[in-house]
Amino acid sequence: MSPVALKGIGFYAPEKILTNADFEKIVDTTDEWITTRTGIKSRHIAHPTQATSDLALEASREALKQANIDPKDLELIVVGTSSSDMLFPSVACLLAEKLGAATPMAFDVAAGCSGFLYSLSVAEQFLKSGMYKNALVLGADIITRFADYSDRATSVLFGDGAGAFVLTNEEQGEEFILDLISGCDPYGTDKLLLPAGGSKLPASHDTVEQRLHFIEMNGKEVFRFAVKISETLIKELLERNHIEIEDIDWFAFHQANIRIIEGAADRLKLSKEKVMISLDEYGNTSSATVPMTIYEYWRKGRLKKGDLMVMIVFGAGLTYSIALVRWPL
Ligand code: COA
Repeated sequence: MSPVALKGIGFYAPEKILTNADFEKIVDTTDEWITTRTGIKSRHIAHPTQATSDLALEASREALKQANIDPKDLELIVVGTSSSDMLFPSVACLLAEKLGAATPMAFDVAAGCSGFLYSLSVAEQFLKSGMYKNALVLGADIITRFADYSDRATSVLFGDGAGAFVLTNEEQGEEFILDLISGCDPYGTDKLLLPAGGSKLPASHDTVEQRLHFIEMNGKEVFRFAVKISETLIKELLERNHIEIEDIDWFAFHQANIRIIEGAADRLKLSKEKVMISLDEYGNTSSATVPMTIYEYWRKGRLKKGDLMVMIVFGAGLTYSIALVRWPL
């Protein structure tokens, strides 16, 4: 089996920025509440003409350019998303069209905010098996389209964006993913959901009137789950790879709430300098938080080739995933 290497990364955040001060004019909130309770200061919001595949396109072009791979040579496109342009076709197929790809296998992965790592895990298997050579993997979401801007507890949390990774299977390549664990707690399906618009509750006057096309969340329970699962997964990953926490150079957590990240970091006694943060600027961009955060640290020259990194996510499902990777760029 040939190694699966990371060859390029891409990022896109929409131009429009919504600050906490802007939110003070939308709902009954304050910059002070949002900052202290979440760590978020601003978020980027997609233009009304943009759909998720448009954000994905920008990030993909950059990643493919860096990888020096022609879209026509892509054999696999996997997009982690919870905000597809429409119920079908998938963002991955729409993206393939926009990129001018040939005939890749293309599909979306619905795993809430865990979508990117779930997608990475699926793509890795196709490359490792030798079935495909070049894959494009994304986390991309315009999750703010489903945020209820009359609900101060959820609307302030989210932003839009996309992150893309290009992976190849090559004899001389350096193995990127060293280990990966994913799962779901199926007893948490009612903790974070978008109730209507699917086969159970198709759109109707009633579903619109009852505001069922927006995210519903039990914030406290998701919070508790996130802190606990982060601690459990990191311990399991270290143990099964026979490494110490000090051996890890970077922790790329899902960017949902600074208090979740700090809660897990405190339990594990992580050094703050190793914990990557981008939620202050971008908020929770759902599937896109981890690739966007990593890109930002890479762009600023913070990551060194060979660094050992942990990526960890959780989301609707309740899903979760953690990966141990060696940074190659
Ligand atoms: N501005 C001002 N006050 C707000 C507010 C806002 N934006 N949002 C909620 N409040 C109020 C509540 O109404 C409540 O008021 P009350 O005591 O008068 O009833 C008070 O603040 C405390 O609310 P609570 O829900 O206990 O706050 P919290 O500290 O649990 O923070 C979240 C709420 C949503 C920020 C937090 O639970 C969270 O981040 N959960 C995880 C969510 C998440 O990560 N989701 C995505 C997962 S992928």
